[in-house]
Amino acid sequence: MRVACTSDIHIDLNGDAVLDALVARVRTVAPDVLIIGGDIATGAATYLKTLLALKEVTPRLLIVAGNHDVWNAPEAIAQGLDSWVRLDKLLPALCAEAGAELLDAGPVEIGGIGFAGSLGWYDLTTREHILDAPIEAYREGVWGGLRWTDHTYAVWKDPEGAPMAMEDVARVLRERLQAHMKALTTRRIVVVTHTLPFIEQIHRKEHPGWRFVNAFMGSLPLGDVIRADPRVVLAIAGHTHLGSDLRIGRFRALVTPLGYNKEWKGTTPGAAVANALKVIEL
Ligand SMILES: [Fe+2]
Ligand SMILES: [Fe+2]
Repeated sequence: MRVACTSDIHIDLNGDAVLDALVARVRTVAPDVLIIGGDIATGAATYLKTLLALKEVTPRLLIVAGNHDVWNAPEAIAQGLDSWVRLDKLLPALCAEAGAELLDAGPVEIGGIGFAGSLGWYDLTTREHILDAPIEAYREGVWGGLRWTDHTYAVWKDPEGAPMAMEDVARVLRERLQAHMKALTTRRIVVVTHTLPFIEQIHRKEHPGWRFVNAFMGSLPLGDVIRADPRVVLAIAGHTHLGSDLRIGRFRALVTPLGYNKEWKGTTPGAAVANALKVIEL
């Protein structure tokens, strides 16, 4: 089975030229399964347009949500809309309309391989303790002139309507992923998360802002869930726009994001897409 994967395609920011380049590349690669590991687009219209274009060139399109995909406009949040509505209602409806399969909603089995996935979330377990930032700075997402934008646009509420702590969001999504993995009957499993599950995937830089943002990159208990299942052969993640290709115990842990075009340093969309879209034979 030929699997192609990437993440963080951000089509609302990168534009149609990048989508066209991605579609052309997928057509050339001709995968049996295409996986997009989240951060497809903020906004339903661009999200749907992207999925429809990709579904034209692949028989199976597997998706996980990214944090940017569950953002709401401040006016919508003021009216009571939260990110659970996006994750559990809007994105499944858009995926169904496009013929894509949202792994956050449930696992799939294709040709003897199981695919389970989740947005995942962050819980400060990837925080850099060397940084002298108080815990309130992480809770508010504001420190040293920096603002972590999820705290403005991705608001999660509990059934009583109270805002949920990021640790609780991470726990709920981790438990969902665990249940999805358990439901798979295959001998091999591919796990896809948007946020990072392994500390080895966190890029260290001395810049204080970078260190602050690393707290919002992932969740190590999420990695424990993936590591605990001996059937896992591949774990794909995104969220960071710096790729990595590691071996974590028995399996390969791959991060292969496209990222923002402003990060490409003069590279053309075609070259950026060719570099980001990795092909794996399983
Ligand atoms: Fe991203
Ligand atoms: Fe992200």
